[in-house]
Amino acid sequence: MSQGETSEAQIAVHWQEEDYFYPPRDFVAQANLTDESVYDRFSLDNFPNCFKEYADLLDWYEYWDEILDTSDAPCYKWFKGGKINASYNCVDRHLARNKNKTAIHFVPELEEEKVEHITYQELYVRVNEMAALLRDFAGLKRGDRVTLHMPMSAELPITMLACARLGVIHSQVFGGFSGNAAADRIEDSGSRVLITMDSYYRGGKLLDHKKKADEAVAKAAQDGQVVDKVLIWQRYPGKYSAQTPLVEGRDFLVNDELKNFYGARVEPERMNAEDPLFLMYTSGTTGKPKGCQHGTGGYLAYVTGTSKYVQDIHPEDVYWCMADIGWITGHSYIVYGPLALCASSVIYEGIPNYPDPGRPWRIAQNLDVNIFHTAPTAIRALRKIGPDEPAKYNYKFKHMTTVGEPIEPEVWKWYYNVVGKGQAAIVDTWWQTETGGFLCSTLPGISPMKPGSAGKGMPGIHPIILDDEGVELPRGAGKAGNICIQNPWPGMFQTIWGDRDRFVTNYFARYCKNPDSKDWRDWPYMTGDAAVEAPDGYYRILGRIDDVINVSGHRLGTKELESAALVVEEVAESAVVPVKDDIKGVTPDMYVALKPGFEASDELAQKVINALISEIGPIAKPRKVWIVPDMPKTRSGKIMRRVLASISNNTDVGDVMTLANPDVVETIRNQVQK
Ligand code: WTA
Repeated sequence: MSQGETSEAQIAVHWQEEDYFYPPRDFVAQANLTDESVYDRFSLDNFPNCFKEYADLLDWYEYWDEILDTSDAPCYKWFKGGKINASYNCVDRHLARNKNKTAIHFVPELEEEKVEHITYQELYVRVNEMAALLRDFAGLKRGDRVTLHMPMSAELPITMLACARLGVIHSQVFGGFSGNAAADRIEDSGSRVLITMDSYYRGGKLLDHKKKADEAVAKAAQDGQVVDKVLIWQRYPGKYSAQTPLVEGRDFLVNDELKNFYGARVEPERMNAEDPLFLMYTSGTTGKPKGCQHGTGGYLAYVTGTSKYVQDIHPEDVYWCMADIGWITGHSYIVYGPLALCASSVIYEGIPNYPDPGRPWRIAQNLDVNIFHTAPTAIRALRKIGPDEPAKYNYKFKHMTTVGEPIEPEVWKWYYNVVGKGQAAIVDTWWQTETGGFLCSTLPGISPMKPGSAGKGMPGIHPIILDDEGVELPRGAGKAGNICIQNPWPGMFQTIWGDRDRFVTNYFARYCKNPDSKDWRDWPYMTGDAAVEAPDGYYRILGRIDDVINVSGHRLGTKELESAALVVEEVAESAVVPVKDDIKGVTPDMYVALKPGFEASDELAQKVINALISEIGPIAKPRKVWIVPDMPKTRSGKIMRRVLASISNNTDVGDVMTLANPDVVETIRNQVQK
């Protein structure tokens, strides 16, 4: 842990614990889970057999015979011997009783466009036709990887479920990422097919998304990965609405090709429980994003169980998670968990404040949404620009979720009182791309809520807080340390795609007692977050202990940002630090030093910003690019990001006299804090 973060954690522990809020009685009366014995059933003594309860929420072709195989620890196999298909579980099995029920409500960003309501029967038809196309036209088969770079649309889950039907491993890249970012993921996963969409609406503008596919394919080819087919969905079926022309022989319009597959039915592949279902790339401490590999049976069981007990989804609920499917939240809690439970899941194309900050509440009113799920950054923004909007609309949420970053108690209270009108149970769910589903949360029908705290470990998840030496902090001590999970669980990722060593090193090496051990007790999972546990067993998450910046709930690696800045030829060195921000939580400040012979200028700063946008995407846009004469460095030449972070945040830089160049600190401070 670097010194900067330790002190931040120490500041955080002086925050006061908030008072409890109790779940509303009418919520408890209908909740899926009110039996407190769940914590005993899922105690460590009953581990791992407790997770049978989650597996039994699914339909298996062949039931599993071993719940947890640890022979290759820490790469675990859950529900070994079981055969299952995720697409079957999310679609086919609901037809007998619910084929006329809406599976997906797709809400276009333009309010004058019609909302699309896709029934389970229609989802079944469209998933089958797409699966046939992927198999017979694109030549994809079980075990192949395919990269999706799709915006929020009904076609995205249709494509994911079509892949899952065939046992093709999908890797969806967030639509807002650049073509270059997609290329890295195409190359790492070895995809020869890219699936995209011609365009989509964002902030009222129809964006040309297809042009990113051209960049992605070109860059992937440079890196040695040839994409031979680009499959392009049309935002308006039958009408191509991007400016970028199609490349003959490589680009194909899905909506045209599908005509050859009308009425096709594809038998779902009987996958082994431990076969990979998808990859989700995420930022880590080093430059290259990591492909978190999620399995089929374990992952699906975990997201289904947690959707039922924490999201409290019932058959008649209308469930809206406002995340993007391009992130893990969307995979687990828009697509796989809710659809496995036969829910009606809302997919919204655009941004929350288009055309005005009343939009989310109009959608809620019109679709009668009663479960709402979003991130603190969206809550902060809506609170700032439309604090009185929710009261103008007639909707009632029974349940709301916050996810992705710590939420300030003040913001939590606005969410509770104004958005939830004091009538909803709130869960603050703490988890990660790697973990597949929730790690800590209150159980909405059982536990009181505490603003700013995620809650206890989920049933079957047993957190501990370790200090830097691996000594466990006393339970409930209110001291900050590194939060780890003692045991594996079914939703946990299986490995980093193609890099088992990195998986072990990043997440387990630091606290593993015996690297040859096959006993899960020797392999606590290191989450990379700092946390404190209060006497009531609730965890408050303080943020990352590594070089990850969580901007608006989106993980960006400082190394990724820094290497993107180095693409600008004048730049010699770069350093990124997090700055506190009212809306985004934190935002990056970018410091660069130039090669000799170059002059600082506004144009150059703009060039750095452009490089970040084109290498990563608009979410990487820094608050400011500071062109400095030199970076503060230790005598061994290490850039002191901690010092820069203090300058950016107007906090005390501490003693800098031991640096190799202490004088530059004052120069930079004058420049930044003027
Ligand atoms: C942070 C998103 C506080 C945390 C699901 C974690 C949170 C990282 C919370 C993972 C929360 C997520 N309270 N912090 N409720 N949820 N985080 O992989 O630092 O995009 O390690 O997964 O977000 O981000 P990721």
